[in-house]
Amino acid sequence: MNNFTKLGFIMATVGAAVGLGNIWKFPYMVAEQGGGAFVLIYLFTIVFVGISVLIAEMLIGYLGRGDVGQSFEVLATKNKYLWGKSVFMAFTGLFILTFYSVVIGWIVRYIFLSFGSLPVGIENSKELFESFLSSDFIPQISFHTLAFIVVAFIVIKGIKSGIEKANYFLMPVLMLIIFGLFVYSISLDSFSTSLSFIFNPDFSKLNSDVMLSAVGHAFFTISLGMGTILTYSASLPKKTNIVKASFWVAFFDTAVALFAGVMIYAFLFSYTSEANSGPGLVFISLPVVFESFGVLGNFLSLIFFVGLFFAGISSAVSLLEPVVMYLIRVLKTSRAKAVIYSGLFFYIVGILVIFSSIDSTKEYLTWGDKNLFDWIDHITYLLLPLGGIIMSLFVGFVLPRELLINTMKNQMNKVVFNIWIFNLRFIIPIALIWMILDKVFS
Ligand code: TRP
Repeated sequence: MNNFTKLGFIMATVGAAVGLGNIWKFPYMVAEQGGGAFVLIYLFTIVFVGISVLIAEMLIGYLGRGDVGQSFEVLATKNKYLWGKSVFMAFTGLFILTFYSVVIGWIVRYIFLSFGSLPVGIENSKELFESFLSSDFIPQISFHTLAFIVVAFIVIKGIKSGIEKANYFLMPVLMLIIFGLFVYSISLDSFSTSLSFIFNPDFSKLNSDVMLSAVGHAFFTISLGMGTILTYSASLPKKTNIVKASFWVAFFDTAVALFAGVMIYAFLFSYTSEANSGPGLVFISLPVVFESFGVLGNFLSLIFFVGLFFAGISSAVSLLEPVVMYLIRVLKTSRAKAVIYSGLFFYIVGILVIFSSIDSTKEYLTWGDKNLFDWIDHITYLLLPLGGIIMSLFVGFVLPRELLINTMKNQMNKVVFNIWIFNLRFIIPIALIWMILDKVFS
């Protein structure tokens, strides 16, 4: 059988979870959303919502043993056809990939930059990054192409010799890099400022916007609501303790986000007290900080961006696999062809995403106040919670009770089980519907 080993599954799932969301997005969101209070809500969501949905999603794959559509169909007791439509989730992955691959491309550019002279001063660095985004479409397309090729190559090789193998390499190296940079950052005077920035909540900064972004980000960061976890779990060895596996994944994902966040801000505060620089944080601010370290800075910059690249690739792979699994079945085609068909979609739309920031073309790819890049980002933050609601309701109401109890009885005690089900049936759907409505109407 072409199944994961247990360790391989944990590696691949952690690889899916730990991505640009943890190292690129999380730190700037913390600054944008007011620091420690955001972090607290985010942690709270991971524990009380994230882990419940993670277990539910894993369970659907583990019991259903198929791609996203098939697993729902097999397990549904009635309305099979309708539940099968949940396969739309797999396509959310393709949407995310369109911009994810472009950002991986930026990272490649900064890997190269680390070998030469890093920008001096924030103004220069900003200029460098912004002109890259708004006029250099040829390098952007080339790096996006490279990301596409690497991802396609790994997914073509399949679960065992592609995804599992790649993660066995990528994950330990990434962890070492983040941890190594973190340990180094302890030696900086600004380390304690960074700690208090991330962990000291200022509750006056809390509002519904902050709460919603924290919930949305919790979903994005553990890779929920899209079928990544479900698809990987379909290749789990039988008799795996999925509750334990879920805890490991949530633990590693959160740990990497926090370590990376503290480390990045320790570096940043050693140079400036200005924290809020948005999506440009790791691309604009960090290189300048590294530059002030001399040659050591080039080295730090290199390993940082290589780590970020690894994190991005292992997540990108997990965004593609669900669609590929589905296409192999419905088109009765080979894995390679399925990868090419779905890959070409995100590759081509990705090029449009690049042009949506290029000065001379952006007006054709902007609607209202958002360009294509921002629209896709915005829509995925709606689609993921929608997927989460469907999975929660499915496990909460549709899966036969007996099957549920039999599968989970050795993994949870009765009280925890009841809380989990209650959470899936009521708390999570209500919270997520509120969140989606707020986003749509705000
Ligand atoms: N979790 C990844 C990150 O933090 C992104 C990701 C991979 C993802 N697979 C996913 C997000 C599935 C949502 C659903 O960058």
